[in-house]
Amino acid sequence: MRKHLIIFVLLVLASSVAEARKTVIPIETEHTQLLLAVRDNGVLETLHFGAKVADPEAFLAFDTGRGEDNGDGPMAYPTAGGRFLGQPALHAKYADGTHNTELFYVSHLSRPAGGAVTTEVLLKDPVSLLEVKLVFVACLKEDVIVTHTEIVNGGKKPVELLDYASGSLYVDADKYLLTHFYGGWANEMNIDSEVLTHDTKVIESRRGTQATQCSNPSFLLSMDTDRLQENAGEVIAGALAWSGNFRLSFEMDESHRLNVLAGISPYASAYTLAPGKAFVTPDFLYTFSQRGAGQASRNLHAWARNYGVYGGGQVNPTLLNSWEGAYFSFTTETLLRMIDDAASMGLEMFVLDDGWFAKDYPRDGDASGLGDWEVNTAKLPEGIDYVASYAHSKGLKFGIWIEPEMVNPQSNLAHRHPDWVVQSPGREQYQSRNQWVLDLTNPKVQDFVFGVFDNTMKLSKNIDYVKWDCNRTVANFGSMYLGEEQDRFFVEYVQGLYSVMKRIREKYPDVLVQCCSSGGGRLDYGAMKYFNEVWTSDNTDAMSRVYIQYATNLIYPACVMGSHVSAVPNHQSGNVTPLKFRFDMACSGRLGMELQPRTLTERERALADRCIRSYKQYRDLVFTGDVYRLASPYDGDYYALMYVSQDRSRAVVFTYCVKYQNRAVGARTFRMDGLDPARRYKVTELNVNRSCWWGNGQVHAGDFLMGGGFNPKLLRTFDSAVFYLEAE
Ligand code: GLA
Repeated sequence: MRKHLIIFVLLVLASSVAEARKTVIPIETEHTQLLLAVRDNGVLETLHFGAKVADPEAFLAFDTGRGEDNGDGPMAYPTAGGRFLGQPALHAKYADGTHNTELFYVSHLSRPAGGAVTTEVLLKDPVSLLEVKLVFVACLKEDVIVTHTEIVNGGKKPVELLDYASGSLYVDADKYLLTHFYGGWANEMNIDSEVLTHDTKVIESRRGTQATQCSNPSFLLSMDTDRLQENAGEVIAGALAWSGNFRLSFEMDESHRLNVLAGISPYASAYTLAPGKAFVTPDFLYTFSQRGAGQASRNLHAWARNYGVYGGGQVNPTLLNSWEGAYFSFTTETLLRMIDDAASMGLEMFVLDDGWFAKDYPRDGDASGLGDWEVNTAKLPEGIDYVASYAHSKGLKFGIWIEPEMVNPQSNLAHRHPDWVVQSPGREQYQSRNQWVLDLTNPKVQDFVFGVFDNTMKLSKNIDYVKWDCNRTVANFGSMYLGEEQDRFFVEYVQGLYSVMKRIREKYPDVLVQCCSSGGGRLDYGAMKYFNEVWTSDNTDAMSRVYIQYATNLIYPACVMGSHVSAVPNHQSGNVTPLKFRFDMACSGRLGMELQPRTLTERERALADRCIRSYKQYRDLVFTGDVYRLASPYDGDYYALMYVSQDRSRAVVFTYCVKYQNRAVGARTFRMDGLDPARRYKVTELNVNRSCWWGNGQVHAGDFLMGGGFNPKLLRTFDSAVFYLEAE
């Protein structure tokens, strides 16, 4: 072994001196550059990440070292062992009990395909024979780099992977402001911002399922500022594409350099790699903006629409969902009348939520029936096809709710397959919402879960949309299937879920699937590869949605944000919000309604019809346009944003007053953004008889609108307005 090592190191040294002395490996998008370099000792380092420079080689002369480390730059994929002492991306434990891994460059290649260039860099540890391939996909016009890592055990004995981050990102600035997201049920995606200090800040989820309800695997990092700025300054935004336990870490070392690691959480997840086997990490994607958070969001959104979201870039239907309007108590008649109302209001789909299934343990509440996916014919004697066909006959699409990963103890499934339930022998099987989690590491359970989707689809050929729910986290985790390999549970649960989703997408490529997990409990780019949209939050209170949707939209595009108008007050909030404000809020995402339409007064119905009609006129902008935020609800008394078409000929502007204004101060001025300064736009306020802006109905120059000419009078809490812009 030792002889091999010496020969290998000599070879590496010889080749690096001859031809690879600081070979630069550029990973570039239109405006961004990640420069890796092979040091003359064979170590791969990060030279630069940020704005693109014309001559990458220039960085070679730049001394990136600040400590006593002989001027060495930071390792591109730092490993535990060797001379590296910080938080490692990779920490492996070998059969002989050692923990050291040192990776040396072997080769790299780049290949363009479509609008992206993929670069693979192969590294190897000459002692353990562990091979690590770093894969980078540079999405050119989106300015997004997507990276993942493939780890292969080239040795003869099993290797235990203790940490296995998807990627590592080094940044160098004087100050780092980290913006990340926290929350809880019906309170997702609050914003926390903090200036990082030395040592490590960790954002982690150990929830197993519903992994993103309390924190999200995404972040924004603003350089050299202590404020998240919309249009100024350097910002890196990133996200991990993984629907399970995750960990993001931000370690500032003694030289003030920051290392960002993103990956699967190592919590209880030491992963054993047999000889010859590979482990592929999830994707870590990031972008760099020199124009604040706004450009960072636009980059991520463009990437999401083009690559990251299933069916991204398409316009999805408006809908009426039965949940808040009917909950568990409905008959066929209730549903048909809701369909009638949805059709007469101009909505395009009816979604039958929870409560339609299970016979022996009918799903008349949340305590029974999950797992028994047969139509409850006592409740719906005519069956699902009857309702779905009725919807189609009224010109509506039809959707249906399932929660296939879960089981109520009160169900035939729980009695038949107790071993399918996530559990730890001898310990309490804690219930949450009266249910247990099914063990998706078990291939039989995967087949069952696929079957739930498949069989539900077979209930009617008129099913166009499935709302896939997942209403709890994992407690006392464990799998009867995995035996002694419980360390694999958290990782293989998610892999099991993805493998089911792959099968579903192969068979049902065109069905719209919503990702719901008690609201936004599974909001991540791993899930979005298979799902068309998310249920942003169970909280449909429009004022709460201002904050939830503002933050969600920092990272995720509006096309995935299910956003519904519900009754007031409702089960989450006592706010009696005007219907106009509720609509204006819901219309900034994928519009839906979630109430009993019969409870609306005639005036409210007329307003609803009008808002739905006008939404159809501009919603392609919400789904495919570029977002520009004009005011953050965190910074003042307004939230305002606009979506602009790619050719800048059309736009829609949403403005909301979230706090009473001192009327003496007068109307607030917003600077529109993203328009063509040289073009002239007709500006029309929608859904009102009297506009709140003096310039309504007139044609204005783009530079005037962007230069501060737009000052609609929104003075009281819940005042809101939507403006449509069309270039002459
Ligand atoms: C979860 C979802 C809701 C609804 C209910 C049904 O809470 O987030 O939208 O579907 O389940 O039980």
